[in-house]
Order: sequence, then structure tokens, then C-alpha cells
Amino acid sequence: MSKNFKKSMLSLILILAMLFTFSGCATTNPNQSNSNANSKTQSNSTTNTASNSEKIKIGLSFDTLNLERWPHDRDFFVQRAQALGAEVLVQSANSDSQTQYSQCQNLIAQGVKVLVIIPHDGSAIAPIIEEAHKAGVKVLAYDRLIMNSDVDAYVSFDNEKVGELQAQYITKLVPKGNYFLLEGSPTDNNAKLFEQGQKKVLQPLVDKGDIKIVGEQWAQDWLTQNAYNIMQNALTANNNKIDAVVDANDSTALGAVRALQEQNLAGKVAISGQDADLANCQLIVEGKQSMTVYKPVREEATKAAEVAVALAKGVDIGANGKVNNGKIDVPSVLLTPIAVDKNNMVDTIIKDGFHSLEDVYKNVPKDQWPKQ
Ligand code: GAL
Repeated sequence: MSKNFKKSMLSLILILAMLFTFSGCATTNPNQSNSNANSKTQSNSTTNTASNSEKIKIGLSFDTLNLERWPHDRDFFVQRAQALGAEVLVQSANSDSQTQYSQCQNLIAQGVKVLVIIPHDGSAIAPIIEEAHKAGVKVLAYDRLIMNSDVDAYVSFDNEKVGELQAQYITKLVPKGNYFLLEGSPTDNNAKLFEQGQKKVLQPLVDKGDIKIVGEQWAQDWLTQNAYNIMQNALTANNNKIDAVVDANDSTALGAVRALQEQNLAGKVAISGQDADLANCQLIVEGKQSMTVYKPVREEATKAAEVAVALAKGVDIGANGKVNNGKIDVPSVLLTPIAVDKNNMVDTIIKDGFHSLEDVYKNVPKDQWPKQ
């Protein structure tokens, strides 16, 4: 063997060894996300996990990303899933059941191991579970339950409790009077649970004759405009004699407050909400909305990403309860919602960094800002 030949063999071995080392460290990045998760811890753990096992593909199917809360959910979910070495493919259906169904079929075809769905319609999407299972894909219902199906897991808040918190707060503020119920989207199982929780609190007071429910309506797709129309009509129909509105969430409360404002009733009529959307937190500190229900979505989305990875690996998901969907008791992880008004805004939403003090108090004179 010539000296030159030996030398080139050695260089070849060296190059091959280097290539092998680098390819072991490489990770692919999920695209389709605005996640700003680039912390050092995250990239470390991504590298560790990814080098130990094959990369898990997760499909994340949103009803919509047009309401304020959902982009937060997306970003927190993707951040945690990436840290666990998974890749996330995100889709949004723009509040259309059929679009969501075909997007889910497409995600299955793209080889996801787990499908995480926030259903537009918890019943219409149900047949996808069987299709997914046939392809060996597990399904996690996120925030909203998927009905009458063998869905594998559910991560949400205690949604009946959300409704209870809303009604408890409003009835404390207005123990007697005319109540209007502005409910959420009729295709969302959560909307029914919020209503159930509210009525648990309201019914005894109705029976006692303390409060009178003068109307109840459901805002299709949780839209602000629909809620505005509903509230406007309710005020007209009742000659503005409404003392309190039990409103299911913030996107609808925004429309209702707008209608109240037009009648100079904003701040005079008690009104609830949910989600701690920025505009509603501003209304709360301005005294135009009474409360919101804060559901820390970072916690929910992080947990959901962990459950999705656990489902992919076939390990225990750490359920803390079961929720019946009409067919089975779905293993569930349920988190606790928090009632927030202007008194605990700083200690909850602002302390968590969900919104900044500057943003929430933007419309309040600076000398009236609370000290942090
Ligand atoms: C519900 C969800 C609420 C609210 C609403 C509208 O299912 O639990 O937090 O955001 O949808 O998107």
C-alpha cells in the first residue's frame, strides 16, 4: 500500500466520522408556527430527545385562529412540543366543520402520530376518530370535547366551573333583578357546559323569585358582531330594563358592552366574560365589564403537548379525571379556572405575564395605576 493511498484513506475515514457526528445532532424545525420559543433549554432538550428517538409528528387542528386566545394556545403548544423533540403541523379551519374535517384527513395522510383537535363542531368531527385509529393515529380533544366517539384523551379546564364562577360573581354583584344570558356557539360543547354551570347557580335564585331571566341566546361562532346584535335586540325588547348579563366569553362580551355603551349602560349593567382577552381586561379596569374567567392557556397548551407526546409513545398521560362524551368516559386532564376582576388583575393575569400592566391600563390615567 503506498504512503499516499494510506494518507487519503485516513482523510476519508476522518471526513466520514465528522459527518456522522454532525448528523446525529441535527434537528428539523417545525414550520407553520409563530412560536418565539428559542431558549437555550429548549434547544438542548430538543437535541437530547431527538437523538434518543425518532421525531414524533403531531397534527394540530384549530377551529379558528381568528379569536384572540387561540394563537396563544398554538404558540405555547408548539413551544413545548418542540422542546420534547416533536414536530407540529398546524392547520386552522376558519370556523368551518367541513374544512376542519378534510384538514384532519390531510394531517393523517402526512403521517402524524397524534392528532390534536379543537373542534368547530364536537359532533360533526367525531367520525375522524375512526379514520385516525385505522391509520394508527391517536386523537386528543383539546379544550373542547369530541362527542360520541372513542377519542383517546381530553385536555381542558373544568368548564362547568367556568359557568359557575361567572354566575356566582354576577349574582353577588346583582342579587336581584332582570338577567339576560348571552351564551356561546351552539356547536361547541363547552358552551353547553358553561350554561349548565351558570344555571346551577342561577336556578335557585330564579325559584326564589330574586332574579328573572328575561332572555337567553346563543352567539354563533362566538362572534363579537353576533353578540352585539343579540344584545341590541335584547335591550330593545326589554326597554333597556336589564340589570345583569351572564355572558359566556370575552369575544361576545365585547359585542355586548358595545351595545350597552350605545345606550349609556356600560358600567351600569353587570357583565361577565371569559379568556382574559386584552380588550376585555381593559374594559374591566375601566369599570365597563365586571369580570372575566382567566384560564392560563400556557398551562393548558403545555399540558396538551405533553399528553400528545405521551400518546405517541404509548405511555401514561397522567389523567386526573374522566369526562363522558355520550359514548365513553374519556381520560381527561382538567385544569382550574380563575375568576378575575379589577382587584386581582395584577396578581393573576399581569403577574403571569399574560398581559402587561401598561397594556391593560392603557386607557386609565397613570396616577390611578396600581403599584406592582
Ligand atoms: C371555547 C373556549 C373558550 C372561548 C371560546 C371561543 O370553547 O373554551 O375559552 O375561547 O371557545 O373561542
